[in-house]
Amino acid sequence: MQPKLKSKVRCTDGEVGEVRRVIMDPLSHDISHIVVGGGPGDVPERQVPMGQVQAVTEDAVSLRLGMGEYATLPAFKRDEYVTTHEVEIAHLEERIHVTPGEVLVPFPELEKSVKRRTFFANFTHAIGFLIGFPLAFPVLRYLMKPMYSPFDNEWLKIGNSGKIKQDDVGVQFKYKRKIKEAYMPEQEIDKNVWVLKATPKVLEAIYQGKDMEFRDSFGKHIWTNKKDVPYIAFSGKCPHLGCGFKWRTHKTLGQVFLCPCHLSIYDAAGKVLDGPAPRPLDPLPIKVTATGDITIIDMEFKAGTKAQVRIV
Ligand code: FES
Repeated sequence: MQPKLKSKVRCTDGEVGEVRRVIMDPLSHDISHIVVGGGPGDVPERQVPMGQVQAVTEDAVSLRLGMGEYATLPAFKRDEYVTTHEVEIAHLEERIHVTPGEVLVPFPELEKSVKRRTFFANFTHAIGFLIGFPLAFPVLRYLMKPMYSPFDNEWLKIGNSGKIKQDDVGVQFKYKRKIKEAYMPEQEIDKNVWVLKATPKVLEAIYQGKDMEFRDSFGKHIWTNKKDVPYIAFSGKCPHLGCGFKWRTHKTLGQVFLCPCHLSIYDAAGKVLDGPAPRPLDPLPIKVTATGDITIIDMEFKAGTKAQVRIV
């Protein structure tokens, strides 16, 4: 039985409050902690790991702890979590049975800097407006010309295949890329891709019997990934909304790519197994030399669309 909201919470030597919230592990979809509050005195809400729960009945949760030990548990930090109203979790109600009320999941690492990013985005817009408004159209067009330049199809070296020890296992390669956006000075940004040495079964799932061609915005052929070359590189951005994803072990699905933002799950071939992602992971052009050096063309695609639309 899972703990219910408002159930009384008892230590071995007395009552300490009631269940105020539950926290879900975003990987296993199990309850990882209960948040207990409303006890005697002005005590903060505390976060109790499920390992300290001895028994759960219809209306009470018994802990293995005494009240002294309970008082040493960490206070609950609300701003480190988001509710399942704020993040979309597919089939939540089939996995967790706490009604009614709030289920929390840890705030995705990648989103922790959102306020800062929003500030810089707004700041850039304001500066852009102030600069752009008094200028005549030709000047503006001159300033924005780089936005209309063709995609950069340069090959970038990202590492060596010696880093990949096992077939069908995602390995992350990090690299830096120089970006020039509109009137902003050129900057170097951190990027990553996931590379797999794929078995024939996974290659077949990716290529479905056909080589994969890449073309530029004018339709000119750039490169062909051959269907029998075992190395495959996936863009490090989730096709749902562009978050970074990880290679993880899932309780029932085994090893998968998992995106923590809205819990999209992909298999080793990049196919969507669960979650809101509208399309599979995006393969990139890849070359591997005889000495194992891996180069890719760094491409980015529009997030949230079923069709793959290149934007960088
Ligand atoms: S960005 Fe939403 S699931 Fe990855």
